[in-house]
Amino acid sequence: MEKFNYYVPTKIIFGKDTEFWTGTELRKSGAKKVLIVYGGKSAQESGLLDRIKKSLEEEKILYAEWGGVKPNPRLSHAEAGTELAIRENVDFVLAVGGGSVIDTAKAISHGAANAGTKLWDIWTGKARLEKSLPVGAVLTIAAAGSETSDSAVLTNTEIGKKAGLSTSFNRPVFAIMNPELTYTLPKYQIACGIADIMMHTLERYFIPDQKNQMTDEIAEGLLRTVIANGRTAVKNPRDYDAMSEIMWCGSLSHNDLTGLGRKKDFSVHKLGHALGARFDCAHGASLAAVWGAWAEYVYQNDIDRFYHYGEKVWGLCTEDKEQTARQAIRHTVDYFREIGMPTNLTELGIGVQEDAVLKELAMDATKEDTVALSFIRKLKAEDVYQIFKTANK
Ligand code: NZQ
Ligand code: ZN
Repeated sequence: MEKFNYYVPTKIIFGKDTEFWTGTELRKSGAKKVLIVYGGKSAQESGLLDRIKKSLEEEKILYAEWGGVKPNPRLSHAEAGTELAIRENVDFVLAVGGGSVIDTAKAISHGAANAGTKLWDIWTGKARLEKSLPVGAVLTIAAAGSETSDSAVLTNTEIGKKAGLSTSFNRPVFAIMNPELTYTLPKYQIACGIADIMMHTLERYFIPDQKNQMTDEIAEGLLRTVIANGRTAVKNPRDYDAMSEIMWCGSLSHNDLTGLGRKKDFSVHKLGHALGARFDCAHGASLAAVWGAWAEYVYQNDIDRFYHYGEKVWGLCTEDKEQTARQAIRHTVDYFREIGMPTNLTELGIGVQEDAVLKELAMDATKEDTVALSFIRKLKAEDVYQIFKTANK
């Protein structure tokens, strides 16, 4: 096991009707004036936004509103929200939505506490982040895990790049998680969430074996749980038990628990972000579309690890390690297809791409071939291009 620090300060408030406690939690956090950040329409249509506002009013907490966050949230929208937060002199940012809304709220909290500093400079490391406003989240989709993660992802449409920022300032103060709030999700979004949750665990799992049994067992248990409950959830999005399991898995999969004591490898995410920046596709779907091609490309460098995955997560048991490793990859890809996720670029809805586009995507994913991805097999731009080529059908 490698050295690690594990500090996840987010208070979790989980269960039915918990959104009614939002005002109380804000008061306990010392909030006086809050910026409520939300997305397109789901939180308004379901009445959630009104319930949240009422809960703030009951605690005499003032608020301003910033709606219209789009999936793959835009830097420019976060910048405009930052200006509003500064103008309104808010001291707390409350996200009501999914990963895109929470990440925008995180960005606004950084921008508002550092007036005059460009958000993208913070994202690229040009400006150092030393303070921020507190953020809270009322979660409406189990997927990105942003409600407890230390990261936030923005898309800069001017330069066509999607990038994440990891900092402890990104950890929300509290996360309110009522699985019933996810009942209105379209099945496609539920499946995107399942794929993303699996991927947050798999990206930490496929690291050369670190003799890290406890972390492995947590990751494998989480994967089995999300796979089984995912099947139920896409058939019946109003199944409280299944939606609860998935929601809790979503937070645990990306608050570092599933990767403690080993390195973190987010290579498939780099490929997914390149696709997301260029084609504006749903994040979880972009990952499912390329994972199989990535796994095919790297598995022979660590057959034991893929064999172990097949045994523990898919219950595979054969004498032949390579055969089991291959079956484990096939089971994963078949599962994505079963829940309605794409397993190649056409199924992702972007069609077969020209070779030149695949090369550009590979350059984006590897920061112009300056960073190598994956620990199992180092991937330079040429390798990533080959992976995109395999997925290009
Ligand atoms: O805008 P509205 O109308 O709310 O619709 C949203 C959106 O269209 C809808 N939705 C959310 N809750 C709903 C609902 N529709 C009906 N009922 C509900 N209860 O779902 C759509 C997707 O929302 P989004 O917030 O984009 O989903 P998700 O949570 O998957 O977030 C994806 C974003 O998070 C980033 C991704 O890259 C992507 O930009 N990530 C953030 C991470 C982090 N901060 O730690 C880690 C992840 O790996 C990921 O990169
Ligand atoms: Zn993700």
